[in-house]
Parts: sequence; structure tokens; C-alpha cells
Amino acid sequence: MEDSKTGEEGESGPAVDAELAKAIMARHFRPSLIVTEAWEGYTFAGLEIRIKESTDLYGAVLWPSALVLCHFLDTNRDKYNLTDKNVIELGAGTGLVTIVSSLLGAKVTSTDMPDVLGNLRYNVLRNTRDRCKYIPQVTELTWGQELEQRFPRATHCFDYILAADVVYSHPYLEELMDTFDHLCQEGTQILWAMRFRLDPENSFVERFQKRFHMEELYDLPSLSIKLYRGWRKDKWTVPHSGEAAA
Ligand SMILES: C[S@@+](CC[C@H](N)C(=O)[O-])C[C@H]1O[C@@H](n2cnc3c(N)ncnc32)[C@H](O)[C@@H]1O
Repeated sequence: MEDSKTGEEGESGPAVDAELAKAIMARHFRPSLIVTEAWEGYTFAGLEIRIKESTDLYGAVLWPSALVLCHFLDTNRDKYNLTDKNVIELGAGTGLVTIVSSLLGAKVTSTDMPDVLGNLRYNVLRNTRDRCKYIPQVTELTWGQELEQRFPRATHCFDYILAADVVYSHPYLEELMDTFDHLCQEGTQILWAMRFRLDPENSFVERFQKRFHMEELYDLPSLSIKLYRGWRKDKWTVPHSGEAAA
């Protein structure tokens, strides 16, 4: 790992972990009244966000890594200013990260597999309509597939690639790595929150470090989640936090 941890206060340890985990989980609330449509509530960017989940699909449930990434973005706006930035989210699921990034002023492309897009689009639209400078785009991106055709590098330059809980025991880890590789250009920063469960997560991190520089931004043992920043190894320009290289 290249740099030290740079959480909100640049500190780490059990007290910081407990306090930060508490602050992150406090973002979540449930409807106080019985409602006809089930939703979970979250508070980010000073606004209430309502997320509809569905238990029959993996990508239709909100995972805690998304909360961790959103909390980081919301509380580090000075260093990671998303205003007018080009952002793509991979494996967006129920869309919280896309929604929060859009509320923070980014131009967001929100992606996932076809089955998930209906619920993702619903959540993104209901929470960003009339609230954002840029309307987020929801579109299919199945990892490793048709990358150059659908996201040509010459015209699709992203300042940030955001990803929450996309690394776990699934058969598409190599395709996911190829997708990071394709989308991450000179000046692009990857902000990636992951929950450590089993060995595949550790070996993915090791392989990621062969291609990308990596900085640990949060280490939250109580949630088994880490947040990383990554950027290309094979380019000259190293982006500083919050600033895509010129
Ligand atoms: C554990 S969920 C995380 C969802 C969301 N990021 C969150 O943190 O709440 C993993 C996400 O990755 C997506 N996914 C899994 N395999 C994929 C693939 N091969 N291509 C694109 N997306 C994929 C799933 O549809 C799902 O939305």
C-alpha cells in the first residue's frame, strides 16, 4: 500500500472505527408510518433519499459498502469535489451511490446488469428529479462485455469510477478487473468500497495492486469494510485527492 490511511481525520484505530461506523449507520432510517410501498431511508447531502429494495435480486438490496462510500463522498467534498465531474458507477444496484454523487453535482453514468436496471432507474429518477444539476444516465454495463463499443476510451473519459461491494465470490472478477482497466484512464480515480468476506476479496486486491496504485481511505473492521482509492500505474500523472490530472 502506497500511502497511509486518510480517513476524515487521517487517523485510524478502534475508537475511530467505532465512531465512524456509528456515523455511517446513522444515515439510515426507516419510514415511521406503515407505507404501501416498502422503502428504506438515507440522509446524504442534507436530503432524504428513499430506496426501494427487492429481495429477489442480489443487486436490488442496498449493501453497507454503499453507505460507506456515500459517507466518504459527503464528508470529503473539499478534497473530492464532484461538481461537474464525469462519474461512472459500476454495479450500482439500488442506486444510492449514483444518487448521492448526482446530488453532489456530478454527471453520473449509473451501470449494472440488465435485470437490475428497472429498479435502479426507478430509484435514481425518484430521488434526483428536480434536485440535481445533471440528470443521471442509467445504462447496462455487464463487466468485460463490449467495453470499447459501448464506452470508447476516446470519448468516455471519467474523473471517477465508483464501486461499492462489487468484489465477492462471483465468477466475473477477471471481467471486473478488465472493466476497471478499460475505464480508468490517465487522471481517473477509482473509489471502491469493499466488504471482506472470504479469500476472493484478498486475492482481487493483490491483483488490483499489480495494475493500479492504491491508497486505503477507510478501514472499518467493525463493518468488515475498506474503502480504497486507485489510479493507473502505467501513466505519468498521479492524481491528487479530489483532482483529476490535467
Ligand atoms: C452486492 S451488489 C452491490 C450493489 C450496490 N453497489 C450496493 O453496494 O448496494 C453487487 C452488484 O454488482 C452487480 N453485478 C454482479 N455481477 C455483475 C456483472 N457481471 N456485470 C455488471 N454488474 C454486475 C449486481 O447486479 C449488483 O448490483
